Amino acid sequence: MANSILVGLQWGDEGKGKIIDVLTENVDMVVRFQGGNNAGHTVEVGDEKFVLHLIPSGILHAGCQCVIGNGVVVNPLTLAQEIADLEARGYEVVDRLRISSRAQLVFSYHCVMDGLFEHKLGENKIGTTKRGIGPAYADKVNRVGIRAGELLNLPRMEHHFRTQAKFYNDIFAEASVPTVDIDSEWASIKGVADKLAPLVEDTVLSINQAVGQGLKVLFEGAQGMWLDVDFGTYPYVTSSNTTAGAACTGSGLAPSRIEHVVGVAKAYCTRVGEGPFMTELHDEEGKRMASLGNEFGATTGRPRRCGWFDAVATRYSAMLNGVDQLALTKLDVLDDFETIKVCVAYDLDGRRLSEMPIAVADYARVNPVYREFPGWCQKTSDATCWEELPERCREYLQALSGLIEAPLKIVSVGPRRDQTFFV
Ligand code: GDP
Ligand code: IMO
Ligand code: MG
Repeated sequence: MANSILVGLQWGDEGKGKIIDVLTENVDMVVRFQGGNNAGHTVEVGDEKFVLHLIPSGILHAGCQCVIGNGVVVNPLTLAQEIADLEARGYEVVDRLRISSRAQLVFSYHCVMDGLFEHKLGENKIGTTKRGIGPAYADKVNRVGIRAGELLNLPRMEHHFRTQAKFYNDIFAEASVPTVDIDSEWASIKGVADKLAPLVEDTVLSINQAVGQGLKVLFEGAQGMWLDVDFGTYPYVTSSNTTAGAACTGSGLAPSRIEHVVGVAKAYCTRVGEGPFMTELHDEEGKRMASLGNEFGATTGRPRRCGWFDAVATRYSAMLNGVDQLALTKLDVLDDFETIKVCVAYDLDGRRLSEMPIAVADYARVNPVYREFPGWCQKTSDATCWEELPERCREYLQALSGLIEAPLKIVSVGPRRDQTFFV
């Protein structure tokens, strides 16, 4: 496999973690390039289930190097816990994980601030994961953030941390929000610094050296295209660029070194949190999809909103990301539906649109125009190759690939590693 970027094409939770795990078989290094522990990437190997938040989903393959790139925001306490959890399950992590010295760190004051912003927004809230992601990225662009490199000089880091924590505590006090216990938080950070500091390095060098040696690198996107801070359903988005271009700025590998973009989409559509969702179902069908697909957030456990596949939005997403390899997941969830719908256009104020409305405010006002496909009403989760899929199912997948103008490469028919095949 050549150097590739993998991104979500919808609102996250497309099954990126699972596909990364499958592709890792043929790569040497997996790099996270944006987001933080707002992500929850599930990998199932045999009977074992793992949910990864900050550690790249390549970690379950011995021999795979994993890198947390400069574009990621890292909560040191939850990262240390994630490492410990994997170690407790018999995985060796520290020899294979590296953290960019330029990655921004997330602290509890960011999480409190996240909650305060949401509270102030009231009914306009974003529905964030409350992991402090937005405030941490805000500190980065405000040029007051603390980076992982500071773990290498704890006295300096302590001074910086206390200054920042006090700045936030003053805001919390004024807003009558409980303040952060600075001494106890600093003690916790010092407690994990010994474990994390040896993993910090200039990952621009390590990634480029790996590529120079002919090793293959896979970039693991978090969230999905419609949560991108520039291109998504703003302001109902996350605070990073989740699209393919961010793999370069979030890692320090140049665009000329990257050959492929893998786009992952569910065979239907989900969203967690607030914001427009053009094909959302509010009826029994939507509930059935949620129940069959077990649609609960891997990070917060919140129920995911469900709806039909949106070919207009996903074509835009595939175009913007330059997807040349499409992975379609959770096909098995549609096994029992007698009719399957796909949105192929929108109606807005009496006009038919084949592309996204210009104003995001109009996304919530469109009426989806559906094309109906006959369901296959047959179990697909045991299929091991394209030929073993029912004909109607193959037709559905080919139609999706045609509608969004991206060549189908990978099909997933269940959560397990072995429930995946190449087309
Ligand atoms: P990610 O954030 O994109 O990595 O996706 P999540 O892990 O948050 O959510 C995807 C969920 O669907 C997880 O529970 C996966 O185990 C599960 N999953 C992935 N692929 C399939 C599939 O093809 N079929 C079914 N039924 N479940 C899947
Ligand atoms: P993975 O990588 C689904 C959503 C939140 C909220 C919005 C902003 O597992 O696909 P944030 O905490 O980032 O400020 O919240 O983004 N969100 C996700 N939804 N999957 C994710 O990650 C998400 N990460 C953030 O629900 O709507
Ligand atoms: Mg997820």
